[in-house]
Amino acid sequence: YQLIAVVPAAGIGSRMQADKPKQYLEIQGKTILAHTLGVLFAYPAISEIIVAVAPNDPYLPQLKFDNAEKIRFVHGGATRAESVLNGLHHINAKQRCRVLVHDAARPCLTHQDLDRLLQIDDDNGAILAIPATDTIKRADAAQQIHHTEDRAGLWLAQTPQYFRADLLQNALEQALAQGLAVTDEASAMEFAGFRPHLVPGRSDNLKITRPEDLALAEFYLNRKNT
Ligand code: C5P
Repeated sequence: YQLIAVVPAAGIGSRMQADKPKQYLEIQGKTILAHTLGVLFAYPAISEIIVAVAPNDPYLPQLKFDNAEKIRFVHGGATRAESVLNGLHHINAKQRCRVLVHDAARPCLTHQDLDRLLQIDDDNGAILAIPATDTIKRADAAQQIHHTEDRAGLWLAQTPQYFRADLLQNALEQALAQGLAVTDEASAMEFAGFRPHLVPGRSDNLKITRPEDLALAEFYLNRKNT
């Protein structure tokens, strides 16, 4: 089968408090999006990378890639799930394709992470995730603790998330049609009755979300390059 990466990069990154979407902030003189695409690009098993960007994205023309032939830009949607779905719509012969959906905002992904994830060959699919180490509280409406979740068995979902392209497209279409909250691809697959595998990832595959995450990502990227 063919392995295709779909990268949702159409978010505005409102929690970042920056003057541009977070994927366009720079680390080591290179945008976060360029770092992320570079990791995927250099992974030989990936034959194509589809990036969903906001229509009329003003920063896109400034992006420079050394090897642009494997990368295709398509329009994203109003939500992450719609952005991913738009990306999937651009894949031909979906029954013979597997997709890796990976956040633009996770530039510290390594090829070892991908190697481990791709070992799972199963229609349920698989995601990188890490066991929760903090104790997790459920809040009530007054933002007081309603109860403490049992930490055992709780995992934090990361990306990439790895699925058969046809099954993921059906699952996302169903979930969106039913108005379900879909914050990752696995949740759409769960609604469709699948039980994706949890593949242990690493905490350095962080999603850059808040201003303080930038320095941490820079640290990890420097470490990777030395
Ligand atoms: O907002 P969050 O951090 O969960 O976004 C995860 C990824 O989804 C980011 O890479 C963001 O650019 C992308 N996204 C998108 N389309 C949207 C919203 C978010 O592609 N409408």
